[in-house]
Amino acid sequence: MDKDTLIGVIGSGAMGSGIAQIAATAGHKVVLHDANADALDKSKAGHEKILNRLVEKGKIDQEKCDQTLSNLNYVESLDEFNESELIIEAIIEDLTVKKKLFSELEKKVNSTCILASNTSSLSIASIAAACGNSKRVLGLHFFNPAPLMPLVEVIPAIQTDVKILQDAKSLVDGWGKTSVIAKDTPGFIVNRVARPFYGEAIRIYEEGFADISTIDWAMKEIGEFKMGPFELMDFIGNDINYTVTETVFKEFFYDPRYKPSFTQKRYMEAGLLGRKSGKGYYDYSEGAVNPEPNKDEDIGHDIVMRIVLMLINEAAEALFLNIASKEDIDMAMTKGVNYPKGLLKWADEIGIHDVLEGLEFLHHEYGEDRYRPSVLLRQMDRKQLKFYE
Ligand SMILES: NC(=O)c1ccc[n+]([C@@H]2O[C@H](COP(=O)([O-])OP(=O)(O)OC[C@H]3O[C@@H](n4cnc5c(N)ncnc54)[C@H](O)[C@@H]3O)[C@@H](O)[C@H]2O)c1
Repeated sequence: MDKDTLIGVIGSGAMGSGIAQIAATAGHKVVLHDANADALDKSKAGHEKILNRLVEKGKIDQEKCDQTLSNLNYVESLDEFNESELIIEAIIEDLTVKKKLFSELEKKVNSTCILASNTSSLSIASIAAACGNSKRVLGLHFFNPAPLMPLVEVIPAIQTDVKILQDAKSLVDGWGKTSVIAKDTPGFIVNRVARPFYGEAIRIYEEGFADISTIDWAMKEIGEFKMGPFELMDFIGNDINYTVTETVFKEFFYDPRYKPSFTQKRYMEAGLLGRKSGKGYYDYSEGAVNPEPNKDEDIGHDIVMRIVLMLINEAAEALFLNIASKEDIDMAMTKGVNYPKGLLKWADEIGIHDVLEGLEFLHHEYGEDRYRPSVLLRQMDRKQLKFYE
């Protein structure tokens, strides 16, 4: 597939608009459709604004802006997708609605067209099963905002043809993205491995070990994360973040590792959604004064170690269960959620024995399955192995 490949995008919300912009910028003709005509108009206006702003900032010239805009075609009917070679669906996160769309779409497109879903949490196998030819279906999971975030998780379903996987992956790589291959399991790589970043931070707060601003301070100053967990939850939205956690928990057949927290549920129920509602864990109203962190280095170190150990445990378990390669797991967390370093590399730096000991302490102290160390860490410790030699 080259630049002449016609790309289709369905759903012109936050993700679909971003994905269409990426493909159009890479030189493809793009057809973009949304069931809601207003959403399509909004997307068109958004593209014009964003691309013109890039010209003003000197990031692209006027010719590139005009070319990219002329590559974007906003269409009212799925009939316009008959010449597309790759279609990426980014509609509402609802399995029934997605399956209906894929089954309708298959009747309108040519037999070689690849069908991809940008779903964050649904099974690609079940979406693919809606198609007569399920071999052509896969997941292409972009991150928000899609034009800026480099990572794309490429997810083959059990039905997906290997050639389709390779073609889609090399096309996305050609768009300047960093792609990683992930197994079709809940949360793929990033939304699975990142769960303790939020969950363990909330747990530390619930126990009263430290307050919100202290936990955020520790994770930024000592852990070197770009944002603290509570700042990030406020940024994502407590409703969205809670729903992802709850979905991952249910999809993992209620594994206690992924158990959501009452704190975040109550924040969501109270409408304290974060930045978008003006208040979440922090107050974003004008002139608001938020609490100062307790900058105690020892407390800060304990906070960072507990959250990082839990993150490493998730990354190790994902590797143990062949969700992705060690390189892809580390790449996904640095490129998809800007972690300061890959978690498996981090484990080597701390030392596998110390990581395991830290997790065993938590497991023993709390007696909760949530803290059980990954078998892989035990095996590696026994054989004195590292993730990277
Ligand atoms: N927002 C994120 O951070 C993010 C990140 C990665 C993946 N995703 C996934 O991407 C998908 C879209 O998310 P979003 O945040 O862009 O949602 P959004 O609500 O911003 O946009 C969804 C769009 O789909 C349209 N739509 C709904 N049903 C449709 C149908 N049957 N046919 C055509 N259009 C339809 C809606 O009118 C809306 O404009 C979801 O599957 C979501 O899980 C979201």
